[in-house]
Amino acid sequence: MRHLINITDLTPDEIEDLLNLADAMRANPRDWGESQRGRILATLFFEPSTRTRLSFESAMLSLGGGVLGFSSADSSSSAKGESLQDTVRTVSCYADIIAMRHPKEGAPMAAQYTSEVPIINAGDGGHNHPTQTLTDLMTIRREHGHLGDMTIGLCGDLKFGRTVHSLILALIRYPGVRFLLISPPELRLPEYLLNTLRDQGIPFEEHQAMEEALPRLDFLYMTRVQKERFFNEADYVRLKDTYILTPEKLRLASPALRVLHPLPRVNEISTQVDADPRAIYFDQVRNGRYVRMALITRMLEDFA
Ligand code: NCD
Repeated sequence: MRHLINITDLTPDEIEDLLNLADAMRANPRDWGESQRGRILATLFFEPSTRTRLSFESAMLSLGGGVLGFSSADSSSSAKGESLQDTVRTVSCYADIIAMRHPKEGAPMAAQYTSEVPIINAGDGGHNHPTQTLTDLMTIRREHGHLGDMTIGLCGDLKFGRTVHSLILALIRYPGVRFLLISPPELRLPEYLLNTLRDQGIPFEEHQAMEEALPRLDFLYMTRVQKERFFNEADYVRLKDTYILTPEKLRLASPALRVLHPLPRVNEISTQVDADPRAIYFDQVRNGRYVRMALITRMLEDFA
């Protein structure tokens, strides 16, 4: 039985197959409307979510399956002190597949040992978020035609932003990808990821000013400063508005730039940018549903 804990649990061929299936599902969603009838997805969310949880539920409902779950730790027996292992063991008696989000790094990895059904990591603390990465890859591939040969700017909270960590680990497997890492010094990419880039000879540059990087980018991946991961409020307040993408700044960028954001946005992209054809973050939201339909389908087949 396969779980999805890290994006590298999937081979590049499996990712390609998932993205092909997701594109086909996006084109003709009704063709799969009965395909998982009688199957149940459980969503165990110990942390807030809008898109990830609802896109998982929408995906399973679009496949004809059913959903159950909880959307905060205090509405489950973890509030009574039940361990994560027991919660997962219990829910795996009620569902065929589990999507789980947890504030602790490594929680889905630990959960897989007591689960009788496949576990999908829907975000673990400041660590990883593989299904957001599948969404990002689907969006990039639809725009760019393939997944290599690009300069991508990752901007904002590169320290705690789990979507950035998973996206980097996914993209380094394709040739010709250059990373421009744009952050204040306090929110730099963790050293283990910088070392991965160095060890593998992947070209990257670190910048503090968004303006330096903008003219060179094919993709700009904006992120929110992750308030919930800060130890003190004053640091968050000082850093939260470091980057704000505005129509004026976008004038520095190529007409072929594409702006991505996993969302939610706080202040880092002005709403005036939404009307720019280069802003594709709501198309990215749409893709999240179809790529999760594809993922649930393949995981319930155990990638056979
Ligand atoms: C992200 C997350 O939860 O890590 N959101 C998402 O899943 N689309 C990004 C964020 O919360 O900033």
